[in-house]
Amino acid sequence: MLTGLHYTSPDILGLERERLFSRIWIFAGFNTFLQQRNQYIARRIAGVPVVIQRTREGLLAYLNECPHRMMPIQEEGFGTRSMVCAYHGWSFDEQGCLHGLPNPGLYHFTDTQKQAIRLRRFAVKEVGKLVFVCLSPEPVEFDSQFDPALQAELRRVSEHLDDQIIYSKFPVKYNWKLNMENVKDWNHVQFLHPKTFFPAMDRKGGPSVPPVEGDLYHAGRADLADLSYPTVTPVKLLPNWFESLVERFGDEEYYYNWLLYPNVNFCSIRGMHFLLQQYDPVSPGQTDYHLWMMTARRKEATTDFTALLRDIFLKERNVIEEDAIFLERMQSSLGEWSALPRQGTYELPLIRQHRWYIDTVLDGVRPS
Ligand code: FES
Ligand SMILES: [Fe+2]
Repeated sequence: MLTGLHYTSPDILGLERERLFSRIWIFAGFNTFLQQRNQYIARRIAGVPVVIQRTREGLLAYLNECPHRMMPIQEEGFGTRSMVCAYHGWSFDEQGCLHGLPNPGLYHFTDTQKQAIRLRRFAVKEVGKLVFVCLSPEPVEFDSQFDPALQAELRRVSEHLDDQIIYSKFPVKYNWKLNMENVKDWNHVQFLHPKTFFPAMDRKGGPSVPPVEGDLYHAGRADLADLSYPTVTPVKLLPNWFESLVERFGDEEYYYNWLLYPNVNFCSIRGMHFLLQQYDPVSPGQTDYHLWMMTARRKEATTDFTALLRDIFLKERNVIEEDAIFLERMQSSLGEWSALPRQGTYELPLIRQHRWYIDTVLDGVRPS
């Protein structure tokens, strides 16, 4: 099991960067922002500056660093701009190869040298409106990370996502893993969100789960694809004034979650509006919290949901704050003195996540 040091050690974050975030597929954004040629998203993935840009040939993902002197190619988080470095004007084509070289008489590159100059490309994959990037030159097979049935559901959901999106990134002072564990731990909801979230849940009787035969740790053996899965929780039927204005996803009174390992919680309240949270590590005790929110697709493009989006966004920020207070408190007391967690049956998804992580990312390494 994980100890306190796994959440506080810079060495462990180094291993995670190398063996987790640089190896498997990581959510990078919505292709809603990548519709026109040269539209791009620039962001960090576990520290690495990445651009995803629409070209004539599809999406191109590359390291946001000019091969000349390492200047970032794109400076804003979103925009529409060709691949030109602002420092000395080098430009790059649809494949990321050097295209334009102003003042060539200053460099005296041979043709062979010029042909070798290119942006460092990454693998990119779209599933419906969700875009994933893999920083490894040898990406893990996408299907071995996300079950094809889960991918099909993400595609179906994508058909219901509106193009008007509210996005925000803010810092939180805890390890990224604590948040992924928190969203898989539904038993915290009644205690941390007694007013904001719990009243909407429709649990009949006291919650319980069936017992598991034998030792939980052994039951927790998992493949990578087992760590990402959908869940539904019944919610009370709430009056929703904008229901008739959107193409709702499904017709169940559910809170839907699509948990995408390693660091995404994509969810929807009754298929009426959606939010995607991502926990991107900055340091062992600091995480960039990315949050995207949108309603279900508007029936009429002229419907203006700006005020509604702002409203649901502020409500969601309140719920996130309720979690963040506890997770920051937990982070601040973790250390080499921390004991091993004592987890019960309902926590099997967390045990699976820990076991896979220990075997794959730590692979026998003890934190220091
Ligand atoms: S650093 Fe990009 S052109 Fe010089
Ligand atoms: Fe919570």
